[in-house]
Amino acid sequence: MCGIVGYVGFREAAGVLLEGLRRLEYRGYDSAGVAVKVNGRLEVVKKAGKLQVLAESLKERALPGTLGVGHTRWATHGAPNDPNAHPHSSEDGRLAVIHNGIIENYLPLKEGLLQRGHVFASETDSEVLAHLIEEKYQGNLYQAVRLALQEAHGAYGLVVAHQDSEEIVVARTVSPLVIGLGEGENFVASDVPALLPYTRRVIFLHDGDMAAIGKEGVRLTDLKGNPVQREVVEVDWSLEDSEKGGYPHYMLKEIYEQPWVLENTLGGRLREESATAELGLKLDPARYDKVHVIACGSAYYAGWVGKYLIEALARVPVEVEVASEYRYRDPVADQKTLAIVISQSGETIDSLEAIREAARKGAGTLGIINAKGSSITREVDDTLYIHAGPEIGVASTKAYTAMIAAMSLVAVWMGRAKGRLQDQPAAEFTAELRKLPRLVEEALEERPEIARIALKYHQASDYLFLGRHIQAPTAYEGALKLKEISYIHAEAYPAGEMKHGPIALIDEHLPVVVLTTESPLYEKTVSNIQEVRARGGRVIALATKGDSEAKKFAQDVIYVPRTHHLLAPIVSAVPLQLLAYETAVCLGRDVDQPRNLAKSVTVE
Ligand code: AGP
Repeated sequence: MCGIVGYVGFREAAGVLLEGLRRLEYRGYDSAGVAVKVNGRLEVVKKAGKLQVLAESLKERALPGTLGVGHTRWATHGAPNDPNAHPHSSEDGRLAVIHNGIIENYLPLKEGLLQRGHVFASETDSEVLAHLIEEKYQGNLYQAVRLALQEAHGAYGLVVAHQDSEEIVVARTVSPLVIGLGEGENFVASDVPALLPYTRRVIFLHDGDMAAIGKEGVRLTDLKGNPVQREVVEVDWSLEDSEKGGYPHYMLKEIYEQPWVLENTLGGRLREESATAELGLKLDPARYDKVHVIACGSAYYAGWVGKYLIEALARVPVEVEVASEYRYRDPVADQKTLAIVISQSGETIDSLEAIREAARKGAGTLGIINAKGSSITREVDDTLYIHAGPEIGVASTKAYTAMIAAMSLVAVWMGRAKGRLQDQPAAEFTAELRKLPRLVEEALEERPEIARIALKYHQASDYLFLGRHIQAPTAYEGALKLKEISYIHAEAYPAGEMKHGPIALIDEHLPVVVLTTESPLYEKTVSNIQEVRARGGRVIALATKGDSEAKKFAQDVIYVPRTHHLLAPIVSAVPLQLLAYETAVCLGRDVDQPRNLAKSVTVE
């Protein structure tokens, strides 16, 4: 998704904007631009391509000034080229607009503006806002923006600068915006990392909020102009957290952060002495007789693992569904349904709308979220934060395993509350949960062997991932990781499904990754592998350390530490992340910002 940065204060704005946009690069983009107030005039420089292209332009054409706005664009309407890049200017060039989101009614608005003589320079929906605000401007920028937003409908994170104003005016509906508070300077951005070099005191804008941001202060109102109060949050992410920390890629850093992330997720919530999970939630798990789990992408696969956990430990039926389907299928939910939405960013529009639908049906709503203060956290009855810290790499890694750990806690929480999880199994399971950080540390030690396997198969055109029971979602997540950063086609199936069609794919060119960790279904899975071997398939087995059988049926074996079979997805995710990472590196891919992808999908 697009990146936004705005600044007003005493520093050179152009430098602050570029540095902030660089910290938002992970969000995915295809053009970038800035507008800076230079000697009372608003100067705009914008270029298709990566930030480096913009930075080169700014070396040739410096923009000295201490008020400015900057944007990295992920194209929705209009090709990724210079004219379509933001900022968009009014015709008189006196104001500049940057915008995340989609103006749903931009076509009728544009027709009206064209009839009134406006001339457009781009194909974008966002430019409509520049002309609309220009029309409303009577010397008060805040008022002009507020009036324009009475007519423009849709999703926006909007930042506007005017050459006659000492403030930048911002507004947020759906697309996130966060204000950073400094001394003699203030900031706005679409995400926290852009603010960390300067401040950790932030205000997360809510839907319908507006703000006038000056260097000495910030005025917050709603769209009607009524003052609103918002909490000032002290962000506990250090600058170092959102830096690479010496790793070549954010993704690799985040893979290696998983042991301490799991410590954070489990943290003080596990009560081993009583074999319970203290989640500090207002929701009463005992009142629900079914669970809906709603998410997208990797979060969906984490939720699918959660289904097995909750049904095993709490004996409550769980339906898992991708958010984009759930929100439109008139789901059967009511007051006795607990709807759990899982999201790293807390901004995924499909997940946000789906949990709203569940709430409309009367369901209790729980968010399993990473980003503090994100939109979904303000929509649900309760939030269980996964405390994974900023996840910058587009491919989710530490957030994925943290989500599963959180779902494990929820399963214990529900199982104990409903009297379905007895002391002995609870004690066994919570003791295994406590070991996870160390087990993941151990799993990471297999990286050299995994790198060898990745090199061996990195030129395959296709991969197949197979798993059974709770390892089926692990197979799907492994396939997603590989395809989204290496661009190799990869698909996954429940291993028992092979004979119903996919086995036709098997030949000597196809690497087949099979999850054969210790489980009640181990023998069944091994027989599925024999079917693959019999047809010449090249088997890469993920097996539990000490398994002496695996070598007999697999060309290559990756060993993972022994754990409770319901926790195998966490320790198994690590080698699959590394397999995808090493393969992508072999292929020279843009690991942290894979093509076409964005870190948080805030448009439909
Ligand atoms: C996972 O590697 C992908 N980046 C993507 O599938 C992601 O999990 C999905 O878009 C959901 O994002 P969220 O967790 O922020 O809602």
